[in-house]
Amino acid sequence: MTATSERAVGQPLRRIEGPDKVTGAARYAAEYQVGDDLAYGWVAQSPVAGGTLTGVTVDPLVEADDVLAVLWHGNAPRLAEGDDPELAVLQSDRISYRGQALALVVARTLEAARAAAASLQLSIDPSPADTVLSFARDDLYTPEKVNPDFPSETSTGDVSAAFDAAPVRVDVTYSTPALHNSPMEPHATTALWEGDELVLYDSNQHPPGVAATLATLFELPPERVHVITEHVGGGFGSKGTARPNAVLAAMAARVTGRPVRLALPRQALFSMVGHRTPTIQQLRLGATPDGKLTAIDHLAVAHTSRLFEFAEQTAVTTRHLYEAPAVRTGHRLARLDMPTPRWMRAPGEAPGMVGLECAMDELAIALSLDPIELRVRNASSSLLTDCLRHGADRFGWHDRDPRPRQRRDGDWWIGTGVASATYPAMVQPSTARARRLSTGDYEVSIAAADLGTGARTVLTQIAADALDVPHDRVRVRIGDSTLPFASVAGGSSGTASWGWAVTGACRALRDSGGSDEATFDSSDLVEQLNQEGKHAYGAHFAEVRVDAVTGEVRVTRLYGLYAAGRILNPRTARSQFIGGMTMGMGMALHEEGVLDPNVGTWVNHDLAEYHVPTHADIESITAEWLDDAGEGQNPMGSKGIGEIGIVGSPAAIVNAVWHATGVRVRDLPVRLDKLL
Ligand code: MOS
Repeated sequence: MTATSERAVGQPLRRIEGPDKVTGAARYAAEYQVGDDLAYGWVAQSPVAGGTLTGVTVDPLVEADDVLAVLWHGNAPRLAEGDDPELAVLQSDRISYRGQALALVVARTLEAARAAAASLQLSIDPSPADTVLSFARDDLYTPEKVNPDFPSETSTGDVSAAFDAAPVRVDVTYSTPALHNSPMEPHATTALWEGDELVLYDSNQHPPGVAATLATLFELPPERVHVITEHVGGGFGSKGTARPNAVLAAMAARVTGRPVRLALPRQALFSMVGHRTPTIQQLRLGATPDGKLTAIDHLAVAHTSRLFEFAEQTAVTTRHLYEAPAVRTGHRLARLDMPTPRWMRAPGEAPGMVGLECAMDELAIALSLDPIELRVRNASSSLLTDCLRHGADRFGWHDRDPRPRQRRDGDWWIGTGVASATYPAMVQPSTARARRLSTGDYEVSIAAADLGTGARTVLTQIAADALDVPHDRVRVRIGDSTLPFASVAGGSSGTASWGWAVTGACRALRDSGGSDEATFDSSDLVEQLNQEGKHAYGAHFAEVRVDAVTGEVRVTRLYGLYAAGRILNPRTARSQFIGGMTMGMGMALHEEGVLDPNVGTWVNHDLAEYHVPTHADIESITAEWLDDAGEGQNPMGSKGIGEIGIVGSPAAIVNAVWHATGVRVRDLPVRLDKLL
């Protein structure tokens, strides 16, 4: 076998499925044509945050011919118990949050399902709703663990004494609002039963995980559930596990004996699929006059639901990013009559770093020390120092006047800000299979999901190099739960995890001396690696201008420099970085679930009123990376890149707004009314 002169890894390959997507040939979960008796589901959601559902009445005036079934807990098939109480849909009369699925209408047409669902009379005994998170609640409690499995509390040294004795101190409280995943492709499922096999075309981040969950709920042998996830139009964490749409569609298909399509409408995404918890964070930092941290104290408050405990790991990054002799971190939770929070891009790290990195900026000001210098003096990793120092050069930090409200251009105040970034480099067990086809080409299979990130393309590059063949001789099959097991497309771990398995299978085939197939399971190898706790690092820089009259904030430059292992495909990697940075900009300036505490819901539950950055908001956004091959990390030398872009970028913008205006906003997002 001859080595190809050009390695595929490192090339800016275009997405293999790109032409299919832009021409409309690519099929998403709600686009499969399955049979001529396809039915449509529409969910009736709870209008109250708590209570009991005593009955559901169908309005006799609604044209009933097209309605095939109205399911609610009074008549829905019983499900077996699973480990996610939110998937026990239509199983109980208890209402735990506003927006909960209370009934499902199945009809011959989408319009009929929607009209019938709107006309249902839901008989409800409401109970008072407790929906507001605050630091002052007397029922805050300390969870035993925070996600995914960290201790809730840590303490090194005597933080109180160290803080009290510190010559320079900052004691501040930051808050971040509820944030919402709202992928362009909504959560959607087309379900059908083929004999006693359940087939789901489902939009998710983990086809084998969804299959296993549905098998449990419907008491099927795992091999009788087949989840097909060919393309996904965004996930961000909200599709990390099976969501109620998958269960409801499967249930409706069983009851009606027809294939059933259920796509959640945009507004339902704001209550039914999980949101990022609001946080309130108290930060106390103590330092010597020359800027060495002596005390770090980070206490984070978040909410969970009545259904189960979701404990976001908000303060976990604070445990390792900077060095100090006394460090204490902790988490408190309130159980609210609200939907359960879930993963949303860098859950924990993203909001937690708003608190830490804004507090670090405040400490730098208190010390009259450059904020980059403060970070460098306390950094726990030389990779972080490299990103800060080189990033400062490339961004053009050096002539910065540290005083706020100094630069003005016409009506605009101008300022710059910086923040550190870090994200754990995780890998999870996965298995891949490689085959030599009769054509001489190769087929590599793994049950991974491509959320639109380019995973399929990068795996093709990895496979080609491991096989020593050009990438156009490799076909990668993903997005199907019946393929060899893949871990979730989450935690920035997909490419590292699947790529490891793909490399193993391809090398085994290459070295097999003529066999046509090889399989590789990475389980034993990844175990040890995760214990070593490696991280990617970065530095974010923002330049903003703030209208002196209206308070409008514009981000004129957003720059990120990363040390994230070997970059396998610079084109798709750049998209991941700037996508995260753009979402970080949303977190700083635009995004906010506005709660109506009486009703227990977010009133801005659509993309007209829940604002995300658009092209018009982005003036200049740049992501670059240092050559950091991540020695010993995995066979590719990569680290995760899906989430680090949103970690720290919001703080860089908030800090830049302070520098422009002299106004310190500690309650995100930075809206213009907070600056005037
Ligand atoms: Mo991401 S929140 O790990 O899907």
